[in-house]
Amino acid sequence: MESADAAADAARTDPLVRLTVDQLRQRSSMKWRTHPADVLPLWVAEMDVPLAPAVAETLHRVADLGDTGYPHGTAYAEALAAFAAERWGWDGLRVEHTAIVPDVMLGIVEVLRLLTGPGDAVVVSPPVYPPFYAFVAHSGREVVEAPLGPGLRLDPAALEDAFARARRGGRRAAFLMSNPHNPTGVVHTRAELEAVAALARRHGVRVVSDEIHAPLVLTGARFTPFLGVPGAENAFALTSASKAWNLAGLKAALALAGPEAADDLARMPEEVGHGPSHVGILAHTAALRDGTDWLDDLLRGLDANRALLGALVERHLPGIGYVPPQGTYLAWLDCTALGLHDEDDGSAAPGELGVVSDLAGPAAMFLDEARVALSSGHVFGTGGADCVRLNFATSPGILREALARMGRALAGHRPPRDR
Ligand SMILES: Cc1ncc(COP(=O)(O)O)c(C=O)c1O
Repeated sequence: MESADAAADAARTDPLVRLTVDQLRQRSSMKWRTHPADVLPLWVAEMDVPLAPAVAETLHRVADLGDTGYPHGTAYAEALAAFAAERWGWDGLRVEHTAIVPDVMLGIVEVLRLLTGPGDAVVVSPPVYPPFYAFVAHSGREVVEAPLGPGLRLDPAALEDAFARARRGGRRAAFLMSNPHNPTGVVHTRAELEAVAALARRHGVRVVSDEIHAPLVLTGARFTPFLGVPGAENAFALTSASKAWNLAGLKAALALAGPEAADDLARMPEEVGHGPSHVGILAHTAALRDGTDWLDDLLRGLDANRALLGALVERHLPGIGYVPPQGTYLAWLDCTALGLHDEDDGSAAPGELGVVSDLAGPAAMFLDEARVALSSGHVFGTGGADCVRLNFATSPGILREALARMGRALAGHRPPRDR
């Protein structure tokens, strides 16, 4: 490492600089175990950080007390309401209009069951988080695509067209939105969300806003809770502390209903509330209530990594497109210039996926030739095939090494048509 890089890294104190590769390799989770030890994993959305002290203290207390029974109370929703008021200036969260669900994706499935029937349509905006396809298909609904438009932002014309198709024949329909958007890191503006709410109202489409990445909005952008937007009173939002505090292994999430959706939420079967873990709820509550200083440190680190990644892409990956994300810790790299995507490669389509690590095109090349694991764009739906998603919630050292390896692989690689 050059001495300037070493000095820059040494000046950082955020959670992303605390763990070494050797420590991380001791983890038994998906990110660090799916690939052999010579691979740097920058794919699935886990972060390479230690636990926030508030969460660690809660877990120690749970262990000391043997407090591992069934959940009780509304502390999770109360903590989120206070966090939302403080961070986003939104005081519209009504604890009585919330339900604790096992996790965000299962919460989405349960909310879609309230709003639609078998065979009804669920609109998504690809490229988008691949489980949107798989879980919608699993719940017997049909995916209708409204691809992102210019600047990879929500496209009102595409949404209008998809909403009309989704409602054809009088079917009920929902729009499953990622706010902020995974994989592009786009943070929808208030004006964009107001336009979505108006369009959805006009077409009789119910909006389900997945806001799991909401606490991870970086300097320069501002998160708007969809339920705080005029016209969204009949919408749902799903959220969780699991992305921002790295708690995917401690299952719990919240479904929030707008005032006009409260009757729908009341129809959610009681059994759904048996899924979340008591320990998960305690950990998520502690994160939202007492983990905000840690979150601010993390956001400083992610901001630094976002800038570092921009410099590394410029240095090592000429020709590859990178628009810095406004939120999340995910970067969407456009590898069209490599010419590696093959329409006929027979790889899985979204929704047919067996494993989230299914690879094709540029991601397969970077795994084979750089030993860097990225998420393959083809599983994110229309518009994804030439892209890869890179998780930059890691140390600057790992990021530098991964991008240098990718640069060497790229230099040694010529597109198939040039061979
Ligand atoms: C947009 C989005 N929704 C949902 C999830 C998964 O959430 P959960 O594990 O709570 O189902 C993720 C995970 O990365 C995500 O990015």
